Order: sequence, then C-alpha cells, then structure tokens
Amino acid sequence: MQRIQNEKILLFLSVLCVSDVQGQVSYSIPEEMAKGSVVVGNIAQDLGLDIKRLHTGKARLYSGDSAEYVELNKNRGVLLIKDRIDREAICRQTTPCALHCQIILENPMEFYSITIEITDINDNPPTFEKNEVSFKISESAVIGAKFVLDRAIDLDVGKNGLQKYDLKPTDNFVLKRDTQGDGTEKVEMILQKPLDREKEDLVSLVLTAFDGGDPQMSGTIRIFITVLDANDNAPVFSQSAYRATVLENAPEGTVITSVTASDADRGLNGRIKYSITNSLDQAHALFHINEDNGEIKLLGNIDYENTRNYHINIRASDDGGLTDSCKVLVEVVDMNDNKPIINIMSKSNMISEHSKPKTVVAMMNVQDPDSNENGKVKCVINDDTPLTIMPTSNNFYSLVTDSELDRERSSEYNITVTCSDEGVPSLSSSVTLTLQISDVNDNPPVFERSSYEAYIVENNTPGLSIFTVRARDADWNQNARVSYILEDSSVNGVPVSSYVSVSADSGVIHAVRSFDYEQIKDFQFHVKAQDGGSPPLSSNVTVKILIQDQNDNPPQVLYPVQSGGSVVAEMVPRSADVGYLVTKVVAVDVDSGQNAWLSYKLQKATDRALFEVGLQNGEIRTIRQVTDKDAVKQRLTVIVEDNGQPSRSATVIVNVAVADSFPEVLSEFTDFPHDKEYNDNLTFYLVLALAVVSFLFITCLVVIISVKIYRWRQSRILYHSNLPVIPYYPPRYSDTLGTGTLQHVYNYEVCRTTDSRKSDCKFGRAGSENVLIMDPSSTGTMQRIQNEKSILDEPDSPLEVSMQCLH
Ligand SMILES: *[C@@H]1O[C@H](CO)[C@@H](O)[C@H](O)[C@H]1NC(C)=O
Ligand SMILES: *[C@@H]1O[C@H](CO)[C@@H](O)[C@H](O)[C@H]1NC(C)=O
Repeated sequence: MQRIQNEKILLFLSVLCVSDVQGQVSYSIPEEMAKGSVVVGNIAQDLGLDIKRLHTGKARLYSGDSAEYVELNKNRGVLLIKDRIDREAICRQTTPCALHCQIILENPMEFYSITIEITDINDNPPTFEKNEVSFKISESAVIGAKFVLDRAIDLDVGKNGLQKYDLKPTDNFVLKRDTQGDGTEKVEMILQKPLDREKEDLVSLVLTAFDGGDPQMSGTIRIFITVLDANDNAPVFSQSAYRATVLENAPEGTVITSVTASDADRGLNGRIKYSITNSLDQAHALFHINEDNGEIKLLGNIDYENTRNYHINIRASDDGGLTDSCKVLVEVVDMNDNKPIINIMSKSNMISEHSKPKTVVAMMNVQDPDSNENGKVKCVINDDTPLTIMPTSNNFYSLVTDSELDRERSSEYNITVTCSDEGVPSLSSSVTLTLQISDVNDNPPVFERSSYEAYIVENNTPGLSIFTVRARDADWNQNARVSYILEDSSVNGVPVSSYVSVSADSGVIHAVRSFDYEQIKDFQFHVKAQDGGSPPLSSNVTVKILIQDQNDNPPQVLYPVQSGGSVVAEMVPRSADVGYLVTKVVAVDVDSGQNAWLSYKLQKATDRALFEVGLQNGEIRTIRQVTDKDAVKQRLTVIVEDNGQPSRSATVIVNVAVADSFPEVLSEFTDFPHDKEYNDNLTFYLVLALAVVSFLFITCLVVIISVKIYRWRQSRILYHSNLPVIPYYPPRYSDTLGTGTLQHVYNYEVCRTTDSRKSDCKFGRAGSENVLIMDPSSTGTMQRIQNEKSILDEPDSPLEVSMQCLH
C-alpha cells in the first residue's frame, strides 16, 4: 500500500510542476484517507533537505486554514494526514481542490511551498432536497406542458457528480434537462400523453438521479401527481330510449319511469341535471322530471282518446354544460273511461199500427272513443217491445219493428236503447224513445152482449126510454166513436121504427108508441153500431123487447049473452036433482097470467040456497032439490074476477026459469032491468061508426082478401104448435039499447086453456094498422079495438060484415 501510494505521489510529482522559487512541491491525495497513517509525501526527500536540517531549521508547517488536515513529521521528514479530509467540505464543487501550505525553515530562513491536491472519491450520492413532491395537474393539460422538477444534488464532482435522471413510469411524461443561460440545469417533465383522471386520478412517478461513480450511486424522489378533473366527459344515458306505459286518468304525481345518466367526471363536472326539452307540445305540460334523480312524474291528466303516446325528450347536462339526450316513449294504456255515445239520427214518433214488420223507426249512431274492447259497443233494447235493434253498418243501428203492431194492445212503447262497451267494468248509456202507435180503424164496435132482452110494461108513455145498448170500439177517437142505428125491419108488417127509436149517440132505445100486451107481446129488431172510421166498421145486435102485461082488461063474459031487451033464461026442470048443471058462465080475460086467471062467485041470487057457482069453472049447479015452491023466475048475479093486482071484475046476470014448460017461462020474464052501464059510453062512438061503416064497406071487401091470406098463413104457423089447443069461437053478443045496436067483435084464435096462468091468447089484429092514438088513461084493449072499429066501420053496416073484415 505504501509503495503504491508512493508511486502515485511520484507520478503526481512528475506531472506537477514544482515551482523553482525556493522550492516547491505538490502532492495529490484522495480525500477521506485514514488519519495519521497516510503519508502525504516525503517532504525531506522531495525538497532535498535532510532530517537534521529540519530539526535545526526548526521546520514548521504553515498551513493557514488547512492546518488541521496535515502535519509535518520532522523525524521522518514526511507529511501525514492529521484529520479526515473531505474534499466536499473543503472545496465544495471547486476543482481541482488543493490544500496550500508552506514549510518555513530558520537559520537560514527558507521557505517552501507545498500544494496538496485533494482528489474526489464518490462518496456522495445524488440527493434530492425532498423525498417526494406533489403536483396537481388538470387532466385537461395539453401535451407539451412542462413541469419543473427539483434537481438532485451530488456533492461529488466530475465523474462522481450527477450524471443523469431517470423518470419512471414513462406513460405520460418525458424528462427534459435543459441548461439555462446561467449554466444551471433545469429538469422538467413534459406531458406527452394526456392524463385521464377518469382512468387514474393519482399518478405516481419516481425520478431517480444517478452519478457516474463506481459504484454508481443514486437518489430518488417520488412524484405524486393528483390529476385534477376537467369536464371532459359528457353525461351518458343508460339507454338512448326508454319505454314506459301509463294508464290514462292516472293520478297526478304517478311515477312513470326514471332515466339515469352517468358522468365520468367528478364534482360539479359530474353533477347531472335532467330536464325535459320538448318545448311546444303537451309533453312539457304533462310530465315533470326530477332534475336530480331523473324520475318522471305525471303532472296533468292523460287522456288516451286525445293522445295515445308521448315522446319526451330528456336532456342530462353537467355543470360544465356537456349534455346527452334520450327519448322516453310513453304509451298511454286505454282505460274504459268513455261511455258509448248514442246519437239519434232520425226517428219517427208515430207509426201506424198497420205498419209492416221491418219498418224502420229510428236510426242511430253509437260511438265509443275508447279502443279495443273498451270501444266495442253492443246495443240492446228492452224486450217488451215489438221492435229489434239491428246493426246496419259500422256503428250504425236501426230500430225496426219485428212483429205486427196493435194499437189496441199497446198504444205507446217506451223503447230504451242501451249500448254498452265490452270493457271491464263495462260502461253503458241508454236513451229512451217513445213510439206512438197511430190508430187504424181495425176494430168494429162490439156490443156488450150478444143479444139483448128488455122488458117494458104495456101502456107505457111514448118516448119512454126502455134501455140502453152499448157497444165499445177498441180503436181510438173517431175510429171509436160509435153511432147506433136502428136497422130497418118490420114488426107485424109495420116498420120497426114506428115502435122504437135508437138514440144515435147514446144507444138509448125509446119506445115510440105505447105498447099493448094484448096486441103484441114481444118483437125484435137489430141495432147496428157503427164507428166513425173510414171506411166505417159496424156490427149488429138483436134486441128483443118483451112487453109485460098489466091488468088492464076486466074479464069478459062470453056466455050467457047479456041480451038487452029479450030475456034469455036457462030452464031448470022442477024435477032436476041436486047438482043439476044449470048453465056455465064462460068468461075470458085478454090479459095473461094472473091477470087472466078468473074466478067465479055468486054475488046475488033470488034464492042463495038453490044455486052455486063453480069457483074455477063457472058452472052453475043446483045445490038442493028443486021444489014446487021455488019461484019460476030465478035471477043470479055472478061476478067474475081476475087475479090481477088490483083485480078487475065483470058481473053477469043469469036468468033461470024453474019450469017445466016454455009458456010458463014466458009469462014470468017480462021486465028484467037492463044493465046499461056497459053501453053508456058507446053511444057516441056508435053514431060515429055508423057514418064510416058505409064507406069502409067497399074498402073492406078489398082488404078482406089480403087479410084472409095473411091470417091463413099465421094460423098455419100457430097450428103447428105441439100444445094442446082448443079452438074456441065465441058467439058475438050484442047489447041492445033503445037507440040501436052495438057490435063487439072479438076474435080469439087460440086459447090455451090447460092452465089459465099460462094463458097466452093471440089476438086478431084490427084491420087497420093505423098508428095507435094514445089514451093515457088505463083504457083497455077491448075499448081500443072498439074505438078503432068504430072509426073504421060504417055505423049501419051489418055486424056480419065487420066481423068478416076483422077476421
Ligand atoms: C213511457 O214513459 C212515459 C214518461 O216516463 C210514461 O208517462 C208512460 O206511461 C210510459 N209508457 C209506457 C207504455 O210505459
Ligand atoms: C148482423 O150481423 C151478422 C153478423 O154478425 C150478419 O150476418 C147479419 O147480416 C147482420 N144483420 C144485419 C141486419 O145487418
């Protein structure tokens, strides 16, 4: 080691020039040599001084400020390292670095200059002032942006000094060293690739500084780059289009959907606000978007019928003004919220009852704005009508009749048309039409009964209303206005209108004349009821009028004939036994029933003990043996009473001669008092009648033939009856007054005598069919006939003739 160093020193010595003044020597030693051990130089030898001289010359080293590093060893004549030599401490970056010292000798004074050059060894690494450094760099920094870095410092010099830098990783930055004007060096990193905060928001780099020593030394500094966000990212919607559905009529505030957008930026640059950008259409008014969370809510009323879908344009924007947009397609789901609307397009309020089936009554149009099932409409009508509803074409319906109409069954129909859609729940609406059925005269008047029977008591006052027929007509108004008309017919050859009249309006049947039961017991006729339609309809009914009997006729005694002047007597032989039938009082009563039920009583008698009268049969019989003492002339008064209420009666005087021979009788009967009462009121008529009779005699002859024929026919009909009949032709009887003869004419065609209660005698009709002249008093039939006869007959025509006429 020593040797090597010596050689070195030698080398140095050879290189360095030694000053020729006073002698001068240079040495070179590396720094950081071990203290005391290392010989810097053999000064004695190099300066050519011997050791003794050193001692004698009191050689000393004058080293100034560097004194402490080296010392002079006089004994050995060498320079030794006294202390550690740090080149960097002594010279810093100055090179070469040398220590300057002088050796001063005395006796004689000698002066030697010594230069000790300190050579550098690589004992210092490059160092940075700090371990780490931070930057904040916006990601938006442009390429080429420079960032000045701390330099490293290496105290060593030359080769051992700082040689190079290394920056790792090299993704974004490159290192650039630049020497500035003043010779100092600048270390910069230059952005060569943009930073992206979104990828890496904290970039860490290591800058390493290397020196050139051997071994190489290095120092590092960590560089932390916080990447500052720049608004380099626009918001992005998760979908470019969203679909949503909303029920129509959904309440306000219903959430429809949410949209989301994301922004890679942070902070304000990443804060997204949502907005609806539709400007003019409804969507803007109907929807609201929460600007922070993108929730879309309903703001107004949604009507499917108005709009079926909406396009909402939504924008998301960050604070930096970058935006994205998307569309939300909102489909409105139909709700069944519309009733069908029924529009009557035309209708008839009234149709004739004779309208044919399929007559169109109304046309209507039905609309439902809803869609699909909700808008499918079906219409029905109430089924108690003779109509049907028929769909004609799209949404059109017609109401037609489907059966015969009958106003009389139903004159009005309330037709309720109900239209309902097929939604769930279904909505419906209805409309009611009133259809009137107009009348056609299709119903004849109908009488309340199929036939009528009415009773009227004879001797009624003419004009008396008998009863009322009534017919009803099911039609309406004029078609139902019934008039009653008496149909022409004849009763016993007389027009029925002379018997009754019918009030056209009311159907009241009036008697035109006073009826006489003894003349006519019943008759029938037809009444027609006719309505006011056009053409009119009619029907008829048979009306039978039954005339009821009144006890208006007293019994008429037919036998014995009450002769006026002459005396007729029944002969009873004195030899007659008890019960001998003297005679029989024959009486009739033209009334009927009880009114004609006769009973016979003995009213007065010359000798009551001798005769009795059969109560029922009028037979006068002896009730004891006739004796010689009994008077020849016996006079019996028999009263004949009918059973009417009040009853009427007639009396008859029966002369009985109790004698054995006719002359005996004659002498006795001379002056019976005459019963005049019967003829009193006839005198006047008799005179009148006599005047007419002669005129009518001729007429009678003509009439007689026709009457005869008619009678003959009538009797033929009557004789066909099964009832047992006893024809009875009573003899005429005449009452003679002093003034003349009165003819009473009776013509009994048939008398049923089996039961007088049922007695029903038919009377011959007076030859004249003249209108009856009414006598309101209860004058009897007999009298009336007599009256008629009196007028008709000539007063002094023979009785035989007038009988013939009547017959
Ligand atoms: C029809 O309706 C009207 C008014 O509601 C009513 O007066 C009439 O009686 C009804 N007609 C029928 C036949 O129901
Ligand atoms: C009365 O009506 C019937 C039918 O009901 C008819 O046959 C007859 O001819 C009518 N008679 C008269 C007199 O009109």
